[in-house]
Amino acid sequence: MAFIKNAWYVACWSDDVKEGELFHRKLLDEAVVFYRKQNGEAVALQDRCPHRFVPLHLGKIVNDGVQCAYHGLEFDCTGQCVKNPHGEGKIPAAARVRGYPVADKHRMIWIWMGDEYADPAKIPDYSVLDIDSGYKTSFGHLNVPAHYELMGENLLDLSHITYVHDGYLGSPEQVGADQELVEEGDHIVCNRWMPNISVPGIFDMLYRRDGKPVDMWTNMRWIPPSNFFLDTGVHEVGGKREDYGWYYGVHILTPETERTTHYHFAAAMPAGTDLPPEADKKFREMRRYAFEMQDMPMIDAQQAAIGDSDFWSMKPVLLSIDAGPVRMRRSLERMLKEEAEKNAAKPPAAGNRPTAAKVSSPAETVAN
Ligand code: FES
Ligand SMILES: [Fe+2]
Repeated sequence: MAFIKNAWYVACWSDDVKEGELFHRKLLDEAVVFYRKQNGEAVALQDRCPHRFVPLHLGKIVNDGVQCAYHGLEFDCTGQCVKNPHGEGKIPAAARVRGYPVADKHRMIWIWMGDEYADPAKIPDYSVLDIDSGYKTSFGHLNVPAHYELMGENLLDLSHITYVHDGYLGSPEQVGADQELVEEGDHIVCNRWMPNISVPGIFDMLYRRDGKPVDMWTNMRWIPPSNFFLDTGVHEVGGKREDYGWYYGVHILTPETERTTHYHFAAAMPAGTDLPPEADKKFREMRRYAFEMQDMPMIDAQQAAIGDSDFWSMKPVLLSIDAGPVRMRRSLERMLKEEAEKNAAKPPAAGNRPTAAKVSSPAETVAN
């Protein structure tokens, strides 16, 4: 299986990349090192020195670039080697690492790992997380031991909340939700409307803390390949949204490997929400608990059961709640296929092109 490369992925929260420090992560099976230049701009480079393959994150930041910890080669912010402290200092042509386009937006570092143009306009709108958005925000990160599609299905179809998150995010009557599936361009939106249900714990705390029934909605949007935006809340039975028992949930997945996923989650509450500080703390804890201690064991067990099998070859039973996840899977399959076809149509990269030139001896490739 491969990953869709020509897309923006969230590498980390902006705050993870601190001034003067190297931060590293594996993303789409590639090791990447991040740092900030003196002007604050984020940089992402391949985290593997081309000399003896030591991770660059073990080195240090020098002149807006990185110095390798092992033999001191220095790379600038584009990944080009700019200093060889040995011999005459000649820099071999191959002494460079890959530099990735990055964008620091909505308090996240976005990375583009494909070879097509990284169009900043394609970064999804998560402006509710901006510092000046007026929303009260909270952030978290988990490492999920599964392929990102499994976690994506969990997010897009929230019918599981009655069972997995009972008492926290879910309640029994939610099973009878009115469902609506909307396709907007390449987005898929799964709306669930649940009138007159017993109030789930987190929403009781967020709303009026009286345990009385409510109307509830969970409207989840999928933005390919792995970004989700949830509009969810409750109000009095027959009431209105302005009652302020709602928030936006941000759920963003980035493949780490075929079997592990970076899961960035955040919440953005409108300014009108009346939530005492203790309840606010509990709100954050309950959300993290739900994702880490309730969703993750399910996804972990699911991944273990699927193993290396092809999902469709296992002939999964399909239910009405699967309409969104199945469309998402099909869209991802189509995107992967299109990318593979484009790659197959490209001429081979210069470095791989067969050539009649003589093969250099090791002595000739060593610069000094
Ligand atoms: S491994 Fe980086 S300079 Fe030798
Ligand atoms: Fe869940």
